[in-house]
Amino acid sequence: MTDIEELLLSRIRDVADYPEPGVMFKDITPLLADPPAFTALTDALADIALRTGATKIVGLEARGFILGAPVAVRAGLGFIPVRKAGKLPGATLSQAYDLEYGSAEIEVHAEDLLPGDRVLVVDDVLATGGTAEASLQLIRRAGAEVAGVAVLMELAFLSGRARLEAPLAGAPLEALITV
Ligand code: PRP
Ligand code: MG
Repeated sequence: MTDIEELLLSRIRDVADYPEPGVMFKDITPLLADPPAFTALTDALADIALRTGATKIVGLEARGFILGAPVAVRAGLGFIPVRKAGKLPGATLSQAYDLEYGSAEIEVHAEDLLPGDRVLVVDDVLATGGTAEASLQLIRRAGAEVAGVAVLMELAFLSGRARLEAPLAGAPLEALITV
């Protein structure tokens, strides 16, 4: 394990049986409260943005906002929020996706993603990949290009990487930590 992986992992707290029995929640709040760790995370994700030639950062509500906004500033790129449905005032594109029970919907302001944009999606955790997949569909429907997906942590046992293979269409999925 590299030094940065060790640092980041040491600041993520496992919370058993949250939000429901049998689930191990990955709590990133200790990492956010630790300036060296949050800075190292921001720098690592900004480096991915530059390497992938991204021109915009999409952050996925809510934790993807916390990580994605400083990455956009550090990389000198615009930040575009992908929000849960009903929160954006302008004309939106919406994408529904399935959850374990029921479904969810995310939206982006249609004018924020345009042909010619190259978009890096930033989020904290890749679990089943449903949220990230829906965001890639939004980006493509807007006519923009996908630069990749970058997450702090990939939960490999939930197979999100396999789910994203087709929607990524060759673009990279970068996880700073895999558990
Ligand atoms: C969590 C997490 C990722 C998503 C991953 O978000 O922050 O965005 O689930 O799950 P998936 O890969 O199975 O789609 P959630 O909406 O639960 O909470 P948040 O609003 O705190 O980010
Ligand atoms: Mg989230």
